[in-house]
Amino acid sequence: MTLSIPHGGKLINRVDLDYNFSALSSEIEMDAMALSDLELIANGAYSPLVGFLGKKDYESVKQNMRLANGIVWSIPITLPVSEKAAQKLRIGEKVRLTFKNETYGVLELQELYTPNKKEEAEKVYQTTDPNHPGVKKLLERPNGYAAGPITLTKIPPKHPDFNLYYKTPLEIRKEFEKRNWNTVVGFQTRNPVHRAHEYIQKTALEIVDGLFLNPLVGETKSDDIPAAIRLKSYEALLKNYYPNDCVYLSVFLAAMRYAGPKEAIFHALVRKNYGCTHFIVGRDHAGVGNYYGTYDAQKIFKQFSFEEIGIMILSFEHSFYCTKCKSMASSKTCPHGKTDHLHLSGTKVREMLRNGITPPPEFSRPEVIEILINGLKNSE
Ligand code: ADX
Repeated sequence: MTLSIPHGGKLINRVDLDYNFSALSSEIEMDAMALSDLELIANGAYSPLVGFLGKKDYESVKQNMRLANGIVWSIPITLPVSEKAAQKLRIGEKVRLTFKNETYGVLELQELYTPNKKEEAEKVYQTTDPNHPGVKKLLERPNGYAAGPITLTKIPPKHPDFNLYYKTPLEIRKEFEKRNWNTVVGFQTRNPVHRAHEYIQKTALEIVDGLFLNPLVGETKSDDIPAAIRLKSYEALLKNYYPNDCVYLSVFLAAMRYAGPKEAIFHALVRKNYGCTHFIVGRDHAGVGNYYGTYDAQKIFKQFSFEEIGIMILSFEHSFYCTKCKSMASSKTCPHGKTDHLHLSGTKVREMLRNGITPPPEFSRPEVIEILINGLKNSE
């Protein structure tokens, strides 16, 4: 085996830091989510996308989980623009893409259209409930979409703690090659790594050459643990419990959508672009509340052939610490009942941490807990 071929066949590169945009008078002000999408399109993480989706692709992704040319893609990557801002734009012109008055890219404006957001919510998030954090975000963003190919003209600044861990897909592929890894399993996470995560990561690692720990550090909902604190916990974990030469840590800049199954496909395709050959999908991947069934994010992959997805999905059952087995396990490997299993919900753990209560070592490594408690104390 060799590293995965990028989705659509080649890694997109739309970065031109010498681009002269001084003559361009039109602009679109992006939000943080669009800024991260711009960078991820440009550096190839979203290959084969070369820009923000036009109406044909948008409708096709929404309805069929495919781009108009048939390639699998499950989350519409769009550039919202307000009606007022759209009125000043002309189709065919080049538009500067700005964030906090700084230009980061240029859009070749091919289309302006008004999406049916209710339908987008229904299809992508499988709910129109405005309390769903992904739907809430969708509804809050401006009501028009601007579309066309983009160029990234300036690398957006990163949180200083992320700099060391920020790498493009090409750089990540080179890191894998340097380590002589032919098979790599990617792990998406928006949470601190607990024992259940560690268990499924290490179980997967037993059958591949390397583990790519790829925490998402883009926008998350306000009660998720901040990325900078999480990053410290990953460092502590890697230092104390993982063999250095089998694990590679890098951050994923995208915003969290909380779209469950549809986002699981998106997460897998991006990791394929990073070179991963395998991808972990556990319980309620990218889920929130009770919007999705526990294993919906695994089942959705059955709708596609392996060739269409191009990355091997490693599905894991709900994992826990069993007090009778005295080890981590899942319902596949443990015969004991629920009362023997240690389970703490994310909400419960966050509440414990905020009150300075230490969850047991069977749930989380003490080094991780210490960082989380101190981090949350200092961030309040
Ligand atoms: S996610 O939103 O990024 O999916 P999280 O960071 O909690 O959330 O999960 C990262 C990965 O670990 C996902 O694939 C998820 O399904 C899996 N996972 C989390 N907790 C468990 C668990 N207890 N058992 C099995 N898989 C889990």
